[in-house]
Amino acid sequence: MKKIGLDVAVIGATGAVGEVFMRVAFERNFPIRNLRLLASSRSAGKQVKYGNEVLTVLETNEEALEGVDLVFCSASSEVSKVWGAWCREREIIMIDDGSAFRMDEDVPLVIPEVNGNDLDAHNWIISIPNCTTTPLVMALNAMQQVSSIKRVTAATYQAVSGTGAAAVQELIDQNSSLSQGSDISTPEAYPVQIAQNVLPHVDDFGEDGFTKEELKMRNETRKILHDYDLPFAATCVRVPVLYGHSEVVHVEFASEVSLVDLGNALSLQDGLVFDDDQTNYVTPLEAADCDDTFVSRLRFDPSVDNGVVFWCVSDNLRKGAATNAIQIAESLLQRGILSES
Ligand SMILES: NC(=O)c1ccc[n+]([C@@H]2O[C@H](COP(=O)([O-])OP(=O)(O)OC[C@H]3O[C@@H](n4cnc5c(N)ncnc54)[C@H](OP(=O)(O)O)[C@@H]3O)[C@@H](O)[C@H]2O)c1
Repeated sequence: MKKIGLDVAVIGATGAVGEVFMRVAFERNFPIRNLRLLASSRSAGKQVKYGNEVLTVLETNEEALEGVDLVFCSASSEVSKVWGAWCREREIIMIDDGSAFRMDEDVPLVIPEVNGNDLDAHNWIISIPNCTTTPLVMALNAMQQVSSIKRVTAATYQAVSGTGAAAVQELIDQNSSLSQGSDISTPEAYPVQIAQNVLPHVDDFGEDGFTKEELKMRNETRKILHDYDLPFAATCVRVPVLYGHSEVVHVEFASEVSLVDLGNALSLQDGLVFDDDQTNYVTPLEAADCDDTFVSRLRFDPSVDNGVVFWCVSDNLRKGAATNAIQIAESLLQRGILSES
């Protein structure tokens, strides 16, 4: 009997996100009939585990993609653009983890718990937000149920896994060299050493002195909340943490708010865990390998009218990438946009 499910291709299966994608898809029992693991020619022939199966990685090309029902892409913008165009021509949905299409008008940028309805207007490519945008917007979405948001500022503390598998290895190697008292090799993932350091520099520099990561956070937040003029400024910082992005967020509201009302709204947000004990907090180490976004240390910001500040943490590879992508696919199935055969 023919197995029901989807023929799925994962482009970037050997990367930091791709590896977590495989774990999350298996844990959530995502209905995969055939799984094609794709990467660059460098990885062709590599063996990768999916549950109890061992699958062989193939080079990404037309032959490897022929006949698929759904493509997940977690590689580079260049790769996304090539295979995104290919999918569109063939009316195959591609869920893209990268930034290539996020701001395109005809591409939904989706966190299912926040703006899942935007999926209905897809044009075959669907983007997931940047891994710092997703947890932030989940918290803002909850809070705007209490009062409309007038202004947001944020500072991030981002793990090296946000840069990819090579950056994870670089931090591990630098830590190891430093503990043995030997010189570290020339940094490649970042302009300078990341071990025992903090870099106020995530992605390239863009306009007005902001980095592209900071601009992504602003523009994506506005798009997902459909609030295109929202005053927003962020400073994104890379820290020597392996997994989990943290953020300090200041929010100003249009009217007076109570911490109880905000806390209740945060507690009602799907996918978010709020701790109302102001002396408790969740660290990135605790959030690693979890799908939830954690908000704690909510308090008034006495420097402005109607302002609060809070601490927010989530696993950048799970809710920041793989889990959100799979939840989008699950939502497409529930909405009948995608169907198993
Ligand atoms: N890391 C995060 O926290 C995070 C969060 C949200 C979104 N994202 C986005 O997800 C994407 C992947 O990030 P990552 O952190 O997983 O990066 P990564 O660890 O560097 O992995 C990159 C993947 O892309 C593959 N690749 C490279 N060139 C290719 C080509 N020409 N054709 C097909 N595959 C190719 C690599 O394969 P080889 O092994 O063969 O080189 C590898 O599997 C990026 O767009 C990133 O912005 C990342």
